[in-house]
Amino acid sequence: MARNLEQLRRQYNSTSHKGAMVRRGPGGRGGGIVGGGKPKNMKKTVGRMLSYISPYKGRIIFVLICMLANTVASLLGSYMLAPIINRLTLAIKPDANIEMSALERAADRLISNFTDPLLGIVENAVLTYVLSAIILLGAIYAVGVITAYVQSRIMLGVSQGAVEKIRNDLFIKMQKLPVRYFDSHPTGELMSRYTNDVDNIDIMLNNSLTSIINSVITILGTFAFMVSTSWILTVITVVFIPIFAFGGAAIGKLSGKYFGAQQAALGATNGYLEETVTGAKTVKVFNHESECIEEFNILNDDMRDKQFKANFWGGVMGPIMGNTSQISYAVTVGVGGVLMCAKTLTPGGLTVFANYSRHFSMPINQLSQQMTTVFAALAGAERVFALMDEEPEGADSEGAVDMPNMRGDVALENVSFGYTPDKTVLKNISLYAHPGQKIAFVGSTGAGKTTVTNLLNRFYDIAEGKITIDGVDIKDIKRDVLRKNIAMVLQDTHLFTGTVRENIRYGRLDATDEEVELAAKTASAHSFIMRLENGYDTVIEGDGANLSQGQRQLLNIARAAISHAPILVLDEATSSVDTRTERHIEHGMDRLMKNRTTFVIAHRLSTVRNSNAIMVLENGVIIERGDHEQLLALGGRYYELYTGKRELD
Ligand SMILES: Nc1ncnc2c1ncn2[C@@H]1O[C@H](COP(=O)(O)OP(=O)(O)OP(=O)(O)O)[C@@H](O)[C@H]1O
Ligand SMILES: [Mg+2]
Repeated sequence: MARNLEQLRRQYNSTSHKGAMVRRGPGGRGGGIVGGGKPKNMKKTVGRMLSYISPYKGRIIFVLICMLANTVASLLGSYMLAPIINRLTLAIKPDANIEMSALERAADRLISNFTDPLLGIVENAVLTYVLSAIILLGAIYAVGVITAYVQSRIMLGVSQGAVEKIRNDLFIKMQKLPVRYFDSHPTGELMSRYTNDVDNIDIMLNNSLTSIINSVITILGTFAFMVSTSWILTVITVVFIPIFAFGGAAIGKLSGKYFGAQQAALGATNGYLEETVTGAKTVKVFNHESECIEEFNILNDDMRDKQFKANFWGGVMGPIMGNTSQISYAVTVGVGGVLMCAKTLTPGGLTVFANYSRHFSMPINQLSQQMTTVFAALAGAERVFALMDEEPEGADSEGAVDMPNMRGDVALENVSFGYTPDKTVLKNISLYAHPGQKIAFVGSTGAGKTTVTNLLNRFYDIAEGKITIDGVDIKDIKRDVLRKNIAMVLQDTHLFTGTVRENIRYGRLDATDEEVELAAKTASAHSFIMRLENGYDTVIEGDGANLSQGQRQLLNIARAAISHAPILVLDEATSSVDTRTERHIEHGMDRLMKNRTTFVIAHRLSTVRNSNAIMVLENGVIIERGDHEQLLALGGRYYELYTGKRELD
């Protein structure tokens, strides 16, 4: 039975999927902003954003100058029409009584200055005037083009530089986050900081910022020119502004609502897609293809609906605003005509003014649109900064030691621990492991075996009790020193994209090729590696998708074997390896771990038989301990497990 839209939305729009790969559909406004929400502490976020662009202060000032020059050039360019039209009118009707304003006269003089030297070449005065005006306009627009080019190029450098720094800071921070953070936050949520949120910041720095400054300068400049041409017409134009603003805001609000719904629908669809792609095999195993198609159809249908509405209201904005501005245009020209007849406005002045009033609403609209982008970017920036402010893994305690010659004498004394304060996972664990000893943990699923290893290398810090190595509390050992001294094969193995050799060398970067091979032999991985297409140089793809589960484990063991660490932890390291290979590895490891301490966790009890001590964990408590013979003689839980009288839960 397929889930309905409500259920699907609820489940797939959780934080883990929100934003993952969400992209704006075609036709949306604002240039690719995704996600959103209003920033909570705008002032602080803006301040922090500024700190990322402040290193480029000089360049930004230069950009501002370019912008100013650009706007002035564009306004001046269109203003030149006024004297040209006036001159042409006079040419047609020499007795027309045209009284040019001071600004018009200045512009006229500017063109005339060009005209005079040209007069010797072309006889006709009007023609020469127009010709020189064209030359002057060409020069003005050339300034516009050059400054626009320079400004966008420099700004691109600034924004990319700032975004690179943000990405870097974010990554550095991520490396410092404690394991607890990764355990408690979905991967998708973390990833979307890098993708959507940083993208939004990028778009803001790149487009919106320049666009906003440009709009403001244009509005102010246009306004100044308009006032100097005719204050009466300026008043008329300004009266229409609230209509644009309110109309725009109303439509913007409506499209914003549907836009949010579109994002949610996109998030759900993408979340669903992500899950069915990663779980493709499971879908097939359980014959769930038709349900999947049905559920996807529901989500896809919903997305089409939301996208239609969002894009409709987004698209309708332009034409509506355009038509409203036509009304303002008509009124302006009408009144302007009257003023012209009354001789308070020249024909050129009216033309230029009509032109300005038409373009006046554009930057205003642009400004309101860019604000959405800015808010989305600031909200994204806030999330990015929140991650940067996450509590890092605690700093080393003062006077933390280096322990250059760690022997691996491990002791746990009355250790109790819970991942959350309300649930104790390990209770009162005490044990000793001397160099050369092999200590095993057995017990049912969820008993707390992996948790013990999480405490040893300080993935988590203990609340009660003490863990010491060579008599030193691990809290007083530098964290990197501690981890360097503990080689681990984690229960959930991981391989990185790279060659087999690189993956093994991950355990000790200065290992030679011979040592890599030796480690592989110890882990019984050598023979299968040699059968790979390029041997040790075979590239491993996507967490080892081109290897078998057991082969992946062998490489993880080799990676631990190559390290010189005095302590080795194997958490279900050979669970997918056949028993014969497992014996081989054991012999190899025994040789390797002569004077080192080994902790082994295994469900397969044959693996732990030869351990010096076996700890039987049950609900976070060690209920039995001793070597294989002793535990069998005890006839307790271990005996039951070993003889198969009781299966592991
Ligand atoms: N990151 C975590 N956050 C909260 N609780 C956790 C976390 N990891 C494990 N637990 C809980 O701690 C308990 C012990 O888990 P642990 O992984 O140590 O079991 P285990 O003995 O290694 O089991 P298995 O044999 O399945 O590997 C479980 O009840 C589990 O739910
Ligand atoms: Mg485990």
